[in-house]
Amino acid sequence: MRDSKGFKGGCPLRILGIESSCDESAVAVLDSDRGLLSHELFSQVDLHRLYGGVVPELASRDHVQRLLPLVRQALAKAQTPASQLDGVAYTAGPGLVGALLTGAALGRSLAYALGVPAVPVHHLEGHLLAPLLEERAPPFPHLALLVSGGHTMLIVVRALGDYQLLGETRDDAAGEAFDKSAKLLGLPYPGGPELARLAEGGRAGVFEFPRPMLDRAGFEFSFSGLKTAVMLAVREAGAAINDPLRANIARGVQDAIVDTLVGKTARALDETGLNHLVVAGGVSANRALREALQAAATARGAEIYFPRFEFCTDNAAMIAVAGMARLQQGGAATHLAIEARAQWPLMSLRAPGVQ
Ligand code: KG4
Ligand code: ZN
Repeated sequence: MRDSKGFKGGCPLRILGIESSCDESAVAVLDSDRGLLSHELFSQVDLHRLYGGVVPELASRDHVQRLLPLVRQALAKAQTPASQLDGVAYTAGPGLVGALLTGAALGRSLAYALGVPAVPVHHLEGHLLAPLLEERAPPFPHLALLVSGGHTMLIVVRALGDYQLLGETRDDAAGEAFDKSAKLLGLPYPGGPELARLAEGGRAGVFEFPRPMLDRAGFEFSFSGLKTAVMLAVREAGAAINDPLRANIARGVQDAIVDTLVGKTARALDETGLNHLVVAGGVSANRALREALQAAATARGAEIYFPRFEFCTDNAAMIAVAGMARLQQGGAATHLAIEARAQWPLMSLRAPGVQ
């Protein structure tokens, strides 16, 4: 990456990124000078749809089959023989441990065979740094709203590995609230994008769902009450439920989540005085959220940065960019261990070289 993107200069480096923490198998090749050279992704959505959610064992087995062909494809598209790689970054956690192990074992072994450093990457650091792949990249320090299937966090990002948590969810994550509400509405997995699509045809204000903790000081979130409210609305509608009613409920859910996220994020901008806002993680693909956050940022004279749509949800380009940042700052693994951690708090990360 270029200096303007917050990375150190020096010799150009080329690395492979591997992501396998959940139900996407993905591989990317990133060059520090030329940017992203290729990114390949296979989504297991069809495999898990039958079960209404991700089945961990099936996910791991499918990653085993997909990853190596994806590596070959990504290298071929990047016109990069493996021998030209300077490092291999892989998602080391958090995530489904079996799924993580497939990418970690492949990444660590490839790095060993090629005689290059391996970089174990924190999946959420990947999400946080995904906007660095864009032409207009955010400077440090900035405020980040990280909204995914498992996390909802407001973070002050001072530098790589220097994160201050302002607040997070006490229970369900924003993506989980989308997914669980979608399930109650009978929408297929994965529910979040389906609910968002349905909400586009719904009328605002017909269903007013709770916006918990919005008026409270601090930056904590709570979304678990939303699914109960949706369940009651669906139950009340009973046999009379039809498509327009479903769309109105979906609109009510989306508006409640968006209002809550935007309210807290706007307050965080005001209280921290930061004027650069990054929005990342799967839920940052939500159009209504993007528009409302854009308006809130503009009203405060703040700049807003999103990953492009395909890099909001899980992908390997973000793992490569986070791996590149760490590699350039001396953050490669110094041992041969295959690292896979189901749980790994983002706040336990440090900048490379800092204890
Ligand atoms: O970051 P991600 O791909 O995986 C995790 O690390 O969790 O996020 C997935 C989450 C899911 O809950 C999914 O429903 C949600 O992001 N999501 C959306 C949209 N696209 C993905 N939620 C609302 N609207 C969307 N357009
Ligand atoms: Zn993710």
